[in-house]
Amino acid sequence: MEKTTVTVIRGDGIGPEVVDAAVRLVEATGAPVVWEEAAAGASMFRAGITSGVPQETIDSIARTRVALKGPLETPVGHGGKSANVTLRKLFETYANIRPVRELPGVPTPFSGRGIDLVVIRENVEDLYAGIEHMQTADVAQCLKLISRPGCERIARTAFEYARAEGRGTVTCATKANIMKLTEGMLKRVVEEVSADYPEIRARHLIVDDCAHQLVRRPEQFDVLVTTNMNGDILSDLASGLVGGLGFAPSANLGDDVAIFEAVHGSAPAIAGQGTANPTAMMLTAVLLLRHLGHADAATDIEQAIAATLEAGVTTPDVDGPGGVGTREYTDAVIARLGQRSATWESRPHRPLRLPAADTLRPADRSVYRSDGGVDVFIESRLAPAELGPILEGLVAGTPLALKMISNRGTQVWPAAAGAGTYCVDHFRCRFVLRDDAALLADGMVYDLLRRVGSRFRWMHVEKLAELDGTPAYSRAQGEN
Ligand code: NAI
Repeated sequence: MEKTTVTVIRGDGIGPEVVDAAVRLVEATGAPVVWEEAAAGASMFRAGITSGVPQETIDSIARTRVALKGPLETPVGHGGKSANVTLRKLFETYANIRPVRELPGVPTPFSGRGIDLVVIRENVEDLYAGIEHMQTADVAQCLKLISRPGCERIARTAFEYARAEGRGTVTCATKANIMKLTEGMLKRVVEEVSADYPEIRARHLIVDDCAHQLVRRPEQFDVLVTTNMNGDILSDLASGLVGGLGFAPSANLGDDVAIFEAVHGSAPAIAGQGTANPTAMMLTAVLLLRHLGHADAATDIEQAIAATLEAGVTTPDVDGPGGVGTREYTDAVIARLGQRSATWESRPHRPLRLPAADTLRPADRSVYRSDGGVDVFIESRLAPAELGPILEGLVAGTPLALKMISNRGTQVWPAAAGAGTYCVDHFRCRFVLRDDAALLADGMVYDLLRRVGSRFRWMHVEKLAELDGTPAYSRAQGEN
């Protein structure tokens, strides 16, 4: 059989120890895989590569289209961006798949409940796009960009994953009650897409209740689909239910490239001691082998891990007495290849079909779009009662009238929505066309900015669009 080349990045901290364990185990199954070594992370940052990912590594992944990757340290508080995020974004691996399943011989407060769920986290959008701007010296902003195609492909991935594993329910977790346009987009798209999967039950939970339910009754969950930051937090929480990060594998999937990595980081406190738990990386290798179509080798590894844990062989991070080192544990798993667990069955898997990019349905472009005004964000230390009349005076006689001013989303002028809104030096000033029948022209916006800018520093502007007459922007708290 022809061998598949897989890029392997050993990574930082405990990375080389746990990746070595996974590589040895895959080799012991006889799966037709060869490794192409590539570097990324701390040593590359030290060598002056600001992304932490050298071009040779990018070229290797672009060629092999599949990578097994150890954890990479991110410089905190200085220097470049996370090398992990760079890899995810460079290769547009939009789906982060994080299975969470109770294992035998790993005692937790939830043992015996049969936890078996998979978190499907959108991996490239949301706040993790990292688009940040200081608005004033006191106010920071991070843009939360959520796209319809981004939602559709993660929604379809969730339903396809449910199909591939014969799972019956997809739960979508969002904060759509507060962020109706961004988080609400995922909720709406999941509802639409669910019509194409009639055999799968779809439901929605508000993400905070989802966190609560995950701890109260985790066994109710099957497939959980969510936005990037929610998924980051919920999946770490979920891994804690089944024994912690030492048991949490993940796959980053895109149209062209798949990058497999454990959920955990480089665990610097235990690096180099030979005590790290390699199970997360071994289970990551299981996902890799399934992706490559080597289902039997994948099941062999999964079953050997279960049989090893059942026999009471564990690393020191597992609650309970004793614990063996990384190498001894790995040897024990390799020795059990071919054995089957007495209590733990592997799930049946069919190949996962990711949605083809050209099948994603764009939004309905026939919707009539018009702009009825503009929000101008300005810096000021004036009180709202002073600010309002000054801005009104600046736009007197123009097509745009000041409708309201808000501070961090709460209306503070003309009437204050709350008695005690604490005003920072960052105001949103909403200007609307005086004549309902008029159309907003860019020239009006330029003139408005000239006028406002003559007195105040402005830092950004948002047009107030309406789609078929429905406002496509949020109202301020207290705004009519
Ligand atoms: P971490 O996951 O490295 O460690 C969190 C805790 O879990 C520590 O107590 C650690 O000892 C323990 N732990 C993690 N994996 C373990 C294993 N396999 N066996 C036994 N114990 C294990 O998270 P932390 O400390 O927040 O991050 C350390 C570094 O890793 C940072 O530089 C961070 O940026 C990076 N990181 C990289 C990730 C990646 O490459 N995908 C993911 C998360 C963090």
